[in-house]
Amino acid sequence: MSVSRPLPHDAARLHVTGAARYVDDIPVPQGTLHLAFGLSTVARGRITAMDLDPVRQAPGVVAVLTSEDLPFEADCSPSNHDEPLLAQGAVHYLGQPVFLVIATSHLAARRAARLGQVEIEAEPPVLTIEDALAAGARFEDGPRVYAKGDPSAGLARAPHRLSGCIHIGGQEHFYLEGQAALALPQDDGAMAVHSSTQHPTEIQHKVAHAIGRPMHAVRVETRRMGGGFGGKESQGNALAIACAVAARHTGRPCKMRYDRDDDMIVTGKRHDFRIDYDVGFDDAGRIAALTFTQYARCGWSMDLSLPVADRAMLHADNAYHLEHVSITSHRLRTSTQSATAFRGFGGPQGMMGIEKVMDHIAHARGLDPLAVRRANYYADHRSAPAETGNDSAPVTATPAEDNASRGGPVAPAKAPPAPPDGVQTTPYHQAVTDCVINALTDRLAAGCDYTARRAAIADWNAGQPVLKRGIALTPVKFGISFTLTHLNQAGALVHIYQDGSIHLNHGGTEMGQGLFQKVAQVAASRFGVPLEAVKITATDTGKVPNTSATAASSGSDLNGMAVQNACDELRERIRAHLAERFQTTDITFAGGKVRAGGEEITFAEAAASAYQARISLSATGFYKTPDIEWDRIRGQGRPFFYFAYGAACTEVVIDTLTGENRILRTDILHDAGASLNPAIDIGQIEGGYVQGAGWLTTEELVWDDKGALKTHAPSTYKIPACSDRPPVFNVALWDQPNPAQTIYRSKAVGEPPLMLGISAFMALSDAVAACGPAYGDLQAPATAEAVLAAVRRARA
Ligand code: MTE
Ligand code: MOS
Repeated sequence: MSVSRPLPHDAARLHVTGAARYVDDIPVPQGTLHLAFGLSTVARGRITAMDLDPVRQAPGVVAVLTSEDLPFEADCSPSNHDEPLLAQGAVHYLGQPVFLVIATSHLAARRAARLGQVEIEAEPPVLTIEDALAAGARFEDGPRVYAKGDPSAGLARAPHRLSGCIHIGGQEHFYLEGQAALALPQDDGAMAVHSSTQHPTEIQHKVAHAIGRPMHAVRVETRRMGGGFGGKESQGNALAIACAVAARHTGRPCKMRYDRDDDMIVTGKRHDFRIDYDVGFDDAGRIAALTFTQYARCGWSMDLSLPVADRAMLHADNAYHLEHVSITSHRLRTSTQSATAFRGFGGPQGMMGIEKVMDHIAHARGLDPLAVRRANYYADHRSAPAETGNDSAPVTATPAEDNASRGGPVAPAKAPPAPPDGVQTTPYHQAVTDCVINALTDRLAAGCDYTARRAAIADWNAGQPVLKRGIALTPVKFGISFTLTHLNQAGALVHIYQDGSIHLNHGGTEMGQGLFQKVAQVAASRFGVPLEAVKITATDTGKVPNTSATAASSGSDLNGMAVQNACDELRERIRAHLAERFQTTDITFAGGKVRAGGEEITFAEAAASAYQARISLSATGFYKTPDIEWDRIRGQGRPFFYFAYGAACTEVVIDTLTGENRILRTDILHDAGASLNPAIDIGQIEGGYVQGAGWLTTEELVWDDKGALKTHAPSTYKIPACSDRPPVFNVALWDQPNPAQTIYRSKAVGEPPLMLGISAFMALSDAVAACGPAYGDLQAPATAEAVLAAVRRARA
């Protein structure tokens, strides 16, 4: 069996030798042109005049296009048609593309782009959450509210009460491969596009629109990305559209890649949030009632902000059972880059709110924060464990029922059925029936010696005037499924050639997360052949149509099932053929062989035999997630097929003179169900944790008061380096299969571990608490400056 083996990433060797081919590495035809955008230098205002003659006259320039030169509407928005490729009369952020330069080389295009004379009558930019609130600048008419129970009565009754606020900074994706696209004009006006995108179908759709052709005239191919992290779910649209429009205009292949600084200045990032809270609780820190007000800074256009803000609301409970709760969400429009998907998709920000509440309550009551967290956990599910093993039933192909585009109308859901007695529900009324967080926390806390280390740290701190240590153990419960229900579908295309080799294709994209390898393991397992028999191929809209973005961590859940469906269809055809040929019903596929009664032939011989008998050896597969139904307006239903759980314990040390800090040790226990590939999953957990810790510590985005992003290069924006990883880093997988019927009972693992990084932030808060009696009220990111400010507040 290929599944559950800890195999390396299929392209690991290519990655480390530099042989893996990315969009920028594809050999281009002679005559290929290169593009660059001229960017707005003002955050908000009206364009009053444009002189682009100096650009046109610059060396190597072939053409310069403005919005008025575009033959069709060229819109880049994944949701709202509010993102013209090039500014139309007004600019909305500093860095917005205003004109497009087409030149004979990348450098010539970039040099010429700087020569544009664009006059802009500046208006005061709306930069911060507070600015947007004051200006009433928002998406949707008013805030969205999800509620359960009676929070105001609960607050009034509670023995203790606290309120507070946390500011949470955004995050730059910092994928190592920048955004890139290449458009190759085909005959009869068709277009082939290579794009570094998590969402080839979206690129196809947007490009078709921009060149005035049906989707069938555009084919998009994506072999791999050098990281996406959500930053290539919608942010690649502009480059692909620009290339296609320019290729149509010139009749020549066109290529575009952003230089790193441009990439950071032009594209959206994680949403900054402010979360206000008001909580009532008892002596043990058990929450009686809680209200959250979440403010999301969305930037200039809608992009994916509504579902991101929804997911922040849906994770305001994290792993805690709340009886009386309300969550109010404001989606604010600002004159900044349009904030977009980023690993966790709002979930991390939502969770930070309640983890801050836990931290604050523990401080107020003088309790161990872990005790407060445990006192509020959802109860573990106690039913008989699901049977393990390879029992995921084949799924029958079903036609897609809903073709609405992303962000399209939402089908109203029925009122949720009342949960059975004793079952706890989330603030959005989904029953939590798969919880393992108590047992998981017990095992992690015991394994990493939490209690003893906490005592030892207190002793150590008592004798140390300058350095202070801190420790925190925090949980993660993350909902798996796209909250836009119709996106939870996937397709696959599998061919078997006469020599028994297998060509595998599905709608998922590879961004380093190991999806292709996991899905290939599924295919190899279905046919009982070695993994080498399966050829992984590039994602291609001409092979599998109407795909969803590879996002929401659902890549292996959805595509794994679709591939299983296609493989099982082919296996059944071969089985039926051999049953007739060998006159037996006893047919098994294993070890590269097919046994039919007493006979044994190779899989290759079985394929050849089926071919000779004129049996089709090509099949499509399809999957749609069952049992989910969600009304995002009312905040009711079952948005998630299941939850993924995990917990992390981080120990840190801070220097109270400078605020400098580092992680000393991290222990993680994470639930990937019955892992399809433990090596890849552990890699996802390690990477997710480090990326989450980076978000909450060193990664700080700074805009000046004119709206210019000052941190637009690695010199000023600090992602974690190898030397920042915890020197002691123990990562283990929880050992229970997914009770939900997922592919081989595995669980999605892409995003949830990012939120394990919250333990690093809470450990810093714990170290701050050792500095003085007051609440330090640490804010995120906990840069050295923020830690120092919190230390001062603690001492005050
Ligand atoms: N891991 C790597 N190495 N590179 C990435 O870009 N993206 C993350 C996560 N892990 C990412 C990654 C994000 S945002 C998501 S949604 C998932 O992978 C997507 O892939 P999956 O659905 O196959 O897990
Ligand atoms: Mo991931 S943020 O869903 O691409």
